[in-house]
Amino acid sequence: MKTSRNLLSIYDLKENEIYNLFERSAFLKANRSSLCNNCLSGKKIGLIFEKSSTRTRVSFEVGVVELGGYPIFMSPKDLQLGRGEPIKDTARVLKRYIDGVIVRTFEQDRIEEFARYFEKPVINGLTDLYHPAQILADIFTVYEVKTGGDLKTFKDNNARNILKNLKITYFGDANNMANSWISLQPLLGFELVLAIPEGFKVDEKVLNDSKKMGGNFVVSHDKTSAARNADVITTDVFISMGQEDNKEKIDRLKPFIIDDGVVNSAKNDVIFLHCLPVHRNEEVTESVFERFSPYVFEEAENRLHVQKAIMEMLFK
Ligand code: CP
Ligand code: NVA
Repeated sequence: MKTSRNLLSIYDLKENEIYNLFERSAFLKANRSSLCNNCLSGKKIGLIFEKSSTRTRVSFEVGVVELGGYPIFMSPKDLQLGRGEPIKDTARVLKRYIDGVIVRTFEQDRIEEFARYFEKPVINGLTDLYHPAQILADIFTVYEVKTGGDLKTFKDNNARNILKNLKITYFGDANNMANSWISLQPLLGFELVLAIPEGFKVDEKVLNDSKKMGGNFVVSHDKTSAARNADVITTDVFISMGQEDNKEKIDRLKPFIIDDGVVNSAKNDVIFLHCLPVHRNEEVTESVFERFSPYVFEEAENRLHVQKAIMEMLFK
């Protein structure tokens, strides 16, 4: 079997490549109107989405078009995959038609199996375990805000220390977004605190992967101390896609809502991020969300720029 370069989790990247992606994303953001370099000209890029999506689907499709390629969206409703065709067969067929693919699915093993048989680049557009494209856009947004965002600063090696010195606190469910922060931490070295309810456990594989990479993060059940002096506070929905029948989880997560108390314990220049969609007054109060919404919607826009940089790297 051939292997190709994928982005199935953050661990497919090195620290230096993440900073190169930041630099390229900033360039692509500043030069959006030109079709840039047509680097995907003639390339057919599939998008297989087994779960709903607004941002990931549209930003990847638009990104492919802006890079001169041709996106093909496929949902299980239309594919034989939805009628039980094994994913390894789907992969072995599609590799004969298309040049790369973005996959949103359930288990991490499923995307890994797809990638093994597809033998061409695969980007994870969210699994139950990780959401690497999202976390790269999130940390790019943090970097942009905390460094002033001009290209000269991005090239300045000292600016990397800005990230290393940040405290980032994630509140809520120990889900794919929490796991994605955990996976990013050993590569960039920031301080990470996870404020999650007692009894909530970080996935074993995520813990082992982080340990192997020298990762270091703190789990706290006290939301005020977790937020103290934070530079970034962030959360995600309490109920992820595929877990809709686990509603009693919301009651256990309720105390971890991001409210004024959390914001006031953080640094004065704290920013709040949310990958969206948001459930107002569930994981964050309406007023905190609206106050920080310019950052949140910038974060959503950055999905496009960062993913274009990722696709240039993998699909070119
Ligand atoms: N944040 C995110 O991945 O959004 P979608 O589910 O709309 O793609
Ligand atoms: N944790 C959420 C993220 C949505 C972008 C989910 O998996 O549904």
